[in-house]
Amino acid sequence: MQRTQHDWIPGALIAALFLLCVTPAVGDNHANAAAAGSKPTVLITGANRGLGLEFARQYSAEGWHVIATARNPERADQLEALPVEVAPLDVADPASVDALANSLDGRPIDLLINNAGIFPRTGSIEEIDFDDYSRTLAVNTVGPVRVTRALLPNLRASEMKTVVNITSRLGSIALTGNGVFYGYRESKAALNMFTKILANELKPEGFTCLTIHPGWVQTDMGGENANLTPQESISGMREVIATVGPEKTGTYWSYRGEEVPW
Ligand SMILES: NC(=O)c1ccc[n+]([C@@H]2O[C@H](COP(=O)([O-])OP(=O)(O)OC[C@H]3O[C@@H](n4cnc5c(N)ncnc54)[C@H](OP(=O)(O)O)[C@@H]3O)[C@@H](O)[C@H]2O)c1
Repeated sequence: MQRTQHDWIPGALIAALFLLCVTPAVGDNHANAAAAGSKPTVLITGANRGLGLEFARQYSAEGWHVIATARNPERADQLEALPVEVAPLDVADPASVDALANSLDGRPIDLLINNAGIFPRTGSIEEIDFDDYSRTLAVNTVGPVRVTRALLPNLRASEMKTVVNITSRLGSIALTGNGVFYGYRESKAALNMFTKILANELKPEGFTCLTIHPGWVQTDMGGENANLTPQESISGMREVIATVGPEKTGTYWSYRGEEVPW
């Protein structure tokens, strides 16, 4: 019996539905890594408390291999309760960064989250303490650059090749409408610029480099009056990381999935 065009429709529909179920969406980085048959690996800096700890909780609960770094692993009590690998790292100490990179030699890292940060509250230019100022730049700006460079071979060996810098809305020059928070604002604006330059350089290799504002969050840094819980902020940022792919490398996001003006 000769088939009409309509006879083929159910078969085509079933095939399309099957493909939809098994094929990860373009830009769905988690699914792409999972489809490659391996458990993706994330390395998080400053993971012993605050946002870093919640990143470690959520990614480990989702089945990722988590390398949770802390300045003092022996005091990282809350990490001990999680199924994560804990490693020492002070992002402002070159020897510590080199030691971490050496210990991870040859291991692919799909996602690097440069999260560690400090926020000395500086109200006016007269209040600047230059030791604090230098320290803020060393931790918030130079730290992520140093860690990213040291772990570049690990990122290059991975499926996802993703670098996420945890910035702040306070690092947006376009949104700066008052005269406080010297040091911190500059450190995050420079981190944003680093993200953009890195994204341009590594685009031909398929990297995704993003800078993400976590919102105002109830951590030691954000304080108890902040309007978001770490769970809400991290869920939002994970969604951004999962859905923004290499075609959007070099972009600045909020935890709500909205682009932030530079
Ligand atoms: N919370 C907010 O409302 C908010 C808003 C915008 C942006 N952010 C950004 O989000 C990130 C995380 O902030 P958070 O709220 O989780 O802050 P937090 O509660 O104060 O935690 C900061 C983390 O960074 C670590 N850290 C500090 N200096 C370090 C160094 N030299 N080397 C390695 N780790 C270091 C701390 O480790 P120790 O315990 O050893 O000090 C701690 O784990 C930061 O980059 C921050 O700027 C936060």
